[in-house]
Amino acid sequence: MKILVFGGTGRTGQVMCRVAEERGAAVLAPVHAECPLEDAEAVSDMVLASGAELVVNCAAISGLEACGDDPLRAHLINAVAPAAMALACRHTGARFVHLSTDYVLDGRRPGLKDESARCRPCCVYAESKREGELQVQEAWEESIIARVSWICGNPAKPGFPESVVAKALAGQPLAAIADKVSMPTDAEDIARVVLSLAVAGAKGIFHVCSQGEPMSWWDCAAVALDEAVRAGVLACLPPVERQKLDEVPFFREPRPHHIAMMSARLQTQGMVMPTAEETVRRAVRRYLAVRG
Ligand SMILES: NC(=O)c1ccc[n+]([C@@H]2O[C@H](COP(=O)([O-])OP(=O)(O)OC[C@H]3O[C@@H](n4cnc5c(N)ncnc54)[C@H](OP(=O)(O)O)[C@@H]3O)[C@@H](O)[C@H]2O)c1
Repeated sequence: MKILVFGGTGRTGQVMCRVAEERGAAVLAPVHAECPLEDAEAVSDMVLASGAELVVNCAAISGLEACGDDPLRAHLINAVAPAAMALACRHTGARFVHLSTDYVLDGRRPGLKDESARCRPCCVYAESKREGELQVQEAWEESIIARVSWICGNPAKPGFPESVVAKALAGQPLAAIADKVSMPTDAEDIARVVLSLAVAGAKGIFHVCSQGEPMSWWDCAAVALDEAVRAGVLACLPPVERQKLDEVPFFREPRPHHIAMMSARLQTQGMVMPTAEETVRRAVRRYLAVRG
């Protein structure tokens, strides 16, 4: 199978390319300069010329403050470009998978959100990603929209658990938000599930995330550090200051408190995801193995 991956240099895109190659696919992954997503025509041409049977979009501007600083660019990259990919796939008959985010959900109340949960984006990033979902579905109704969350597990592009361990090993003071919860999810699980869904001919919105109890950033830090202690690289658990989401000075864009998802549709397809705790522990082990 020939697969075109946009965003193949990113945290998820790197793993997507590797897992697809391990499954025997021929992977084409244009870098940013070869196909800037601000240019929807170039994006469409890339899909049409690629001969790909499957197109996976792992590209985005995912920094909330970067989106807030340039809403037009966020709209072009997170909404217009994915719609151009979807439309081009409709023409060629290729399967299309677009990665979206738990940030599109209404995060005002606690509780795990399945695919039928209400959307209520609360910042420019989330608005642009929700617009991307709607435009993709309008352009090519056979598309898969995989909403993912809080990605870790790629040692080359450390996520939150890996970064906390790196800071602890460097002897730096630690602080983590204790009043915002989500589901840490392994980039490898995302790649594995997304490729299987595409091959199975699935369509529509899927929540692709770990299962079990959601974690605050503080919970996630505690598990990551515990795994580093178990691995013998930390002598004991360092203290982690509890922060409140609304008190983090760097955050200029609003963030939702309760957007942890449940992967209800994956379960109906018999696809099992690990728990959030297993995900964090595995990400730390993988990071330590590479770090040496
Ligand atoms: N990270 C998370 O925790 C998280 C959580 C929920 C959802 N998501 C979603 O999951 C997906 C993957 O996220 P990620 O964290 O793996 O992404 P990432 O590491 O930020 O990578 C983004 C990719 O997009 C490319 N890109 C950005 N702007 C571009 C442009 N104008 N033209 C061409 N390429 C461009 C980047 O290339 P360059 O670096 O060369 O610009 C990079 O390859 C995104 O849809 C994101 O919204 C992420």
